[in-house]
Amino acid sequence: MALAIKEIIRMGHPTLRLPTEPYPIEKISSDECHELIADLRDTLAAAGGIGLAAPQINIPLQVAVVNIPAGPTRYGDLSEVPFSVYINPKLTVLDDSRAGYWEGCLSVPGLRGYVVRPQRVKIDFIDLEANEQSLIAEGFTATVFQHEFDHLESKLYIDHISDTRLLVFEDQFVEHDVDVLTAELQTAANR
Ligand code: NI
Repeated sequence: MALAIKEIIRMGHPTLRLPTEPYPIEKISSDECHELIADLRDTLAAAGGIGLAAPQINIPLQVAVVNIPAGPTRYGDLSEVPFSVYINPKLTVLDDSRAGYWEGCLSVPGLRGYVVRPQRVKIDFIDLEANEQSLIAEGFTATVFQHEFDHLESKLYIDHISDTRLLVFEDQFVEHDVDVLTAELQTAANR
């Protein structure tokens, strides 16, 4: 079957900032739904990302996919999340634990930003069989879900960055040891 690679829209495109609609449950087993999932899967794979939300391919519906491979990625060594689909997800923060990661976004290419987010969250969503599911995510995986589901609420990760020193170019992120910068800034913030 031909790959279904769509254009990923970038920051500045209105769809990333306009309200989204819940996915109609009665359409979940339709060809249209399967096509949307194939588009998200193939577009994500072609871009080498770990998550993609429907608004990023200019479809303002509440559907996101995540695929965190085992082993090294551009975000370091991560716990694996096999390709999975989240329809109309709701996220609940479970406790006060918070941690920061250098996030990137396929709709904000070339940049990385350090975002502190809750690290234990519950996710309620509808799966591809139209069943209600829930799961608990921790650590970086919790950050990935929050980043993707933000797209379904017209938010981008940069909205969470209040200190602009924590927004950097990706090539500089790779070239320099940003862990040193992160630690310096955190120490400065705590003084
Ligand atoms: Ni993103």
